[in-house]
Amino acid sequence: ELVTETMEAVQKGGYAHFMLKEIHEQPQVAREVLHMLAGSTEVKRVLDAIRNARQVYFIGCGTSYHACLAGSVYFAQLAGRAVIPVLAPQFIPQYLPAVNKQDVGIFVSQSGETKDVLNALQAAEAQGMTCLGLANVIGSTLTKATACWLPLCCGYEISVPATKTFTNQVVTFLYLAYRLAGRDTRPLEDIPALMETTLNTAAPQIEAIVPAINPWNDLYCLGYGATYPMALEGALKLKEITYAHCEGMLSTEFKHGPLSAVTENYPVLFVTGPEDVPLIVSGINEVTCRGGRAIAIGQEDSRLRANASEVITLPEASPEISSLLSVLPLQLLAYHMSVGRGYDPDFPRNLSKTLTVD
Ligand code: AGP
Repeated sequence: ELVTETMEAVQKGGYAHFMLKEIHEQPQVAREVLHMLAGSTEVKRVLDAIRNARQVYFIGCGTSYHACLAGSVYFAQLAGRAVIPVLAPQFIPQYLPAVNKQDVGIFVSQSGETKDVLNALQAAEAQGMTCLGLANVIGSTLTKATACWLPLCCGYEISVPATKTFTNQVVTFLYLAYRLAGRDTRPLEDIPALMETTLNTAAPQIEAIVPAINPWNDLYCLGYGATYPMALEGALKLKEITYAHCEGMLSTEFKHGPLSAVTENYPVLFVTGPEDVPLIVSGINEVTCRGGRAIAIGQEDSRLRANASEVITLPEASPEISSLLSVLPLQLLAYHMSVGRGYDPDFPRNLSKTLTVD
């Protein structure tokens, strides 16, 4: 038993949990995936397939789906290419009847073994669609079943909640969007250092707000544009390991109904890009004027300071990189809330790392 415990402590590298270790590995694995992408011949194949495609789909489940959503925002905003993000099980009933061999699907999965994803892949293949992959586990079914795939370069992700594989999925999509747009990819090399800064500055700020938020079993996490997928991802992380109900939503939708949930101190997280601050501030005011607690996550901005109850600051970066960074404080928040509640964030109840069932 002592040997097992010692081995586990070594594997955790001095961190209390695998999740925290994996959160802190994000700068390093981002560096590795960017390096891999810059030297990969597969990237050209992926880009050529996308350029020649009639329609492109990004397909995944859970966290990997959120990366698909982020990728589709980047592709449209940066490269002017509309892509359809799809939750894998919905691909068959909704899109299969409409696809043919002129279409391309990128199937995204950490494990490469998620049954929902493999079902969609099999059906798409049978229809003649070009199927590409984005996977962390090399040698997984997804990497064997796709014509061409890109590795996420994250090493083992042990914690059930995905963290570093999510950010590397997003980094990969961001890189592909830059290349598709013919943009210089060198600014992306700043990502690892910016992630480092974000983790260092957000950690104490997040820990400071946990005691006020943790008594709540119900909260919202809102975003807009490129931060919308990050809000969904933050909400999933919170649900997964704190067992609280946290709903991720487009910030502008909040006033169309959920606003009625706001009471004194009710927590609402607002994730914002630098260009969306005026819109987000208007949402913040809807919450604070009803006594709610609006926690903004964004770059330093006097308008956020003046209107939000708290601001978790992100370093200065381009809007697309800023959106990627915004998920890091949300991962930390979920982690510290989970630990604060006495749960093990690495192995949440009822869940397993890989879902190989329908
Ligand atoms: C993420 O925190 C979850 N554990 C879950 O949503 C996961 O992303 C989903 O099951 C998909 O897994 P995959 O990336 O291995 O396909």
